[in-house]
Amino acid sequence: MRRAVCPGSYDPATNGHLDVIERAANLFDEVVVAVLVNKSKQGMFTISERMQLLQDATAQLPNVRVDSWHGLLTDYCKEQGIQSIVKGLRSVSDFDYELQMAQMNREISGVETLLMSNNPSYSFLSSSLVKEVATYGGDVTDMVPPVVHERLLARLAERD
Ligand code: PNS
Repeated sequence: MRRAVCPGSYDPATNGHLDVIERAANLFDEVVVAVLVNKSKQGMFTISERMQLLQDATAQLPNVRVDSWHGLLTDYCKEQGIQSIVKGLRSVSDFDYELQMAQMNREISGVETLLMSNNPSYSFLSSSLVKEVATYGGDVTDMVPPVVHERLLARLAERD
């Protein structure tokens, strides 16, 4: 079975993430969307909230499942029998960092990384910018799945 992981912080998932997940699901028998902790980023949603949002947003994709992991991504791949990591590339600045991680992950484990060019319509999208724009009342309706939009507005209202 060809199995891939789409790892990320997903705080929260955007339409850019969903685009990569859907396209990976067309290429692999099974895709695991793994919510990982990025220690350099402050979270708005808990890991289980992020997982629930991803589960709702990917419910129509039968070969996609959602999981979480604390630790090295390559240890997760080893434990789950996953041969490939799939990540989206928005820009040249993404490429520098993603290439470095891909090479490190291959060096320590042999797991391959496939860098998928993003849909250009989503090149400007990031979870951080979506949160920032929404925090100041900007409209992010078309940037995130409807379920994420609803929860994002609810979380911001709770904070006010
Ligand atoms: O959505 P993000 O924050 O860009 O995702 C980055 C993430 C979480 C995929 C990356 O930081 C990661 O893989 N973290 C897990 C720990 C790990 O394996 N670190 C070594 C990377 S070479």
